Amino acid sequence: MAQHRVVLLPGDGIGPEITVVARQLLEVVSQRHGFSLSFEEQPIGGSAIDATGEPLPASTLEACKAADAVLLAAIGSPRFDSLPREKRPETGLLGLRAGMELFANLRPVKIVPALIDASSLKRQVIEGVDLMVVRELTGGIYFGQPKGRIETEGDERGFNTMTYSASEVDRIAKVAFEIAQERRGRLCSVDKANVLDVSQLWRDRVDAMAPDYSGVEVSHMYVDNAAMQLVRDPRQFDVLLTGNLFGDILSDEAAMLTGSIGMLPSASLGSEGPGLFEPVHGSAPDIAGQDKANPMAMVLSAAMMLRIGLKQAAAADDLEAAVDAVLAGGFRTGDLMAEGCTQLGCRAMGEQLLKAL
Ligand code: IPM
Ligand code: MG
Repeated sequence: MAQHRVVLLPGDGIGPEITVVARQLLEVVSQRHGFSLSFEEQPIGGSAIDATGEPLPASTLEACKAADAVLLAAIGSPRFDSLPREKRPETGLLGLRAGMELFANLRPVKIVPALIDASSLKRQVIEGVDLMVVRELTGGIYFGQPKGRIETEGDERGFNTMTYSASEVDRIAKVAFEIAQERRGRLCSVDKANVLDVSQLWRDRVDAMAPDYSGVEVSHMYVDNAAMQLVRDPRQFDVLLTGNLFGDILSDEAAMLTGSIGMLPSASLGSEGPGLFEPVHGSAPDIAGQDKANPMAMVLSAAMMLRIGLKQAAAADDLEAAVDAVLAGGFRTGDLMAEGCTQLGCRAMGEQLLKAL
């Protein structure tokens, strides 16, 4: 029997609540499909700061690297906003991505028919949207040096550096080309090449790779235009390739096409070693501990973990089908609530998902 070691990182805010739901479902599908999952919980983010003083304890990173896959819920809390940057929860997440060398972040955005009216956009605009954001995750302005804050004469200056090497662009572009090949064969690379040198390098490298993928049609779009096109006509997109910062922004925007950021999973992958699977949404401190969270993005992240990380596609199908069935049955958490539907808390939603399985 196949055995997979999963590290669970419940993190902060609503993280622990949605982790409970995902774990229960994973236990059921693993039994059904004849493989075993072992779970090991590790602290990260604010909960790790509380426990150890560090947002990413060395023991957490080691456990993640040694796992077959890592499932993270969410990190972050305004309680830590005044700490120095290296002590903040976000720094723990960035450290985990860098430490596991997870340079490729995949964020699929697909409209669920049952939720079409939950979007703030018109049905005609979003019907049939099915796109994938491929975001570079361990470089760009998030990690570029130099960075910091300095006192200048009578003033203070803060600065970061947006930088990519050709090889960093190549490895993420390759991931995006390969995904486009498996999908509808359209790759749109997003940059700001009309202003930024780093973006011109990005564009040149993508163009240089295009001849290797004759089945993929490549286009380039400036990031400001991409932000506009995502809400004007999102169906034009198949695969969107972006740097770290642009992908952070555009993936939140793209998430809202589906009605709630509470529906979006993601996968972060390196060239080898375990992947990290996490919902796109954050820790939602405002509703934490109130049994109001939507666990679906977490459950869908668990499905991505099964499919991509553990090669258990049939079990992943089951989790995705359970989400679809519960939504089709009219069950909604508060973020998606609509007339005629039944509103549930996180725990009750978990029970419905178990029933649907
Ligand atoms: C995301 C988040 C993170 C990011 C934060 C929490 C550091 O917004 O995963 O999109 O900026 O990458
Ligand atoms: Mg983000």
